[in-house]
Amino acid sequence: MEFNYFSVNSIFNNDITIVTKELLPEGFSGKGTARVDCSNKISIILDEIGWASAKAQQLIKPITSGSKLKLSDHILYLLTDPESSNGRGTVVGLLKIGRKKLFMFDLAGYQHEVEPLCILDFYIHESKQRTGCGKKLFEYMLQHQNVRPQHMAIDRPSEKFLSFLYKHYGLEHILPQMNNFVVFKGFFDHDSGEG
Ligand code: ACO
Repeated sequence: MEFNYFSVNSIFNNDITIVTKELLPEGFSGKGTARVDCSNKISIILDEIGWASAKAQQLIKPITSGSKLKLSDHILYLLTDPESSNGRGTVVGLLKIGRKKLFMFDLAGYQHEVEPLCILDFYIHESKQRTGCGKKLFEYMLQHQNVRPQHMAIDRPSEKFLSFLYKHYGLEHILPQMNNFVVFKGFFDHDSGEG
């Protein structure tokens, strides 16, 4: 994903960047107009990739946009490819997470009020899918949050994402719920891996 009016590499220093409600790369130190300019560009990027993600998931409107992130406590990991587009860089994908208060059923059918980290939006550009980019971004998030995949809840996972979770993390046994969130066996157990 390229942007005509600015170079992606002028905004990001690394191939994975964390963005939160300020719409600035984590650790951004610029002031004044540099700050405003950067946050405007990131807002444009999030609007565009948010739409691409929605289309890929056949949703009628995006889950992710600049204005939505600004009003949330969500954490967004953005993957870029600095080498592409003749050295201007491209945006490859996004992974958005956040905590949600949920009522979830365990394996025995007992309901619990929990506030897990949730996967809210995950998208890799069509030209890069199935080349390991999703795994790279997901692994970065797991390490950064110090969380195991089975302890996260997933908001309406697609078939591709379910396949991804099975392939890379062996997650397959879904605990039936009354909401749109999917959790796997092991969700309620933080020690032995049983759930
Ligand atoms: N069909 C089936 N499985 C797929 C597909 C596909 N078209 N694409 C990826 N996968 C799964 C498979 O398990 C695949 O392994 P395989 O190629 O050996 O079958 C594995 O993912 C590949 O791993 P990566 O290359 O690391 O994954 P990728 O970079 O493709 O990222 C992602 C995975 C994010 C699901 C990506 O395919 C994508 O953006 N899909 C479209 C949007 C989407 O479905 N997003 C998840 C929505 S749910 C949510 O956001 C909470």
